Amino acid sequence: MSETVLITGAGRGVGLALTKEFLAAGYRVFAGVRKTCHLLEKVKEQYPAALSLIPLDVTEMASVRAAAAKVAAETPALETLINNAGVYLGDKTRTLEELDLEDNHLQQTMEVNAFGPLRVVQQFLPLLAAGGKRIIVNISSEAGSIGDCWRRQEYAYTMSKAALNMQTRILHNYLSPRGFKIKAIHPGWVRTDMGGKEADLDPATSAGGIFNVIQRVAAGELATKEGGEGIFLDYQGKILRW
Ligand SMILES: NC(=O)c1ccc[n+]([C@@H]2O[C@H](COP(=O)([O-])OP(=O)(O)OC[C@H]3O[C@@H](n4cnc5c(N)ncnc54)[C@H](OP(=O)(O)O)[C@@H]3O)[C@@H](O)[C@H]2O)c1
Repeated sequence: MSETVLITGAGRGVGLALTKEFLAAGYRVFAGVRKTCHLLEKVKEQYPAALSLIPLDVTEMASVRAAAAKVAAETPALETLINNAGVYLGDKTRTLEELDLEDNHLQQTMEVNAFGPLRVVQQFLPLLAAGGKRIIVNISSEAGSIGDCWRRQEYAYTMSKAALNMQTRILHNYLSPRGFKIKAIHPGWVRTDMGGKEADLDPATSAGGIFNVIQRVAAGELATKEGGEGIFLDYQGKILRW
């Protein structure tokens, strides 16, 4: 039987590239999407049996529960979960004085980037526990590093990814005694709607790197060190500073 993976935010960008990467490697992929997506439907034509499109809005508890039930109806176990869905809301160039703190972008960013992955992990935990690999990857960002922070603005996004990193560390503390391997991975600066046209990497390169890191983690490489070092990695497996 093929190995199984759930990828959130799979309709475009890094999530779509990850979906293609795992399908090409022979995985059974459950692709979380908020709405119908013609790019994924094209991929589905190529992999009719291996790809399932799962309606999934990570901000809605009912949607996450329904997605878990739908996946459970199709497979008894999940080997890997990739929490990829994310948003960048608000204007990158706004200073502290210019920020609109009443427009809800801080809250909405946290809902998707920080609380979303926690909802997904909670609801998919039984399926992951039934799997042989027990791998959870949160797609984070270098922007979430407190130690390496150089920014003077971008509060919402950076704070949400720092919170996601903390969540990853707590999940590691809680779940690694049960054999889970939990990582936060920075995908690089990627040419997607979020990353923009000037970014360094095409989505396929980023996804290929993340795929390789996950294979290495599954093989027992890139183990976590004292103090949680080695939980936060980039798409090439390089350790990032919390
Ligand atoms: N691109 C970069 O340079 C870069 C750098 C560092 C980290 N990252 C991280 O990498 C991940 C992927 O980013 P990307 O560049 O591929 O972004 P993207 O092109 O903007 O795609 C974001 C994806 O997240 C989905 N999404 C947004 N809100 C959602 C929700 N409430 N529920 C479920 N799915 C939702 C979107 O679905 P819809 O199509 O339905 O909107 C879309 O599939 C994100 O976590 C991002 O923070 C990206």
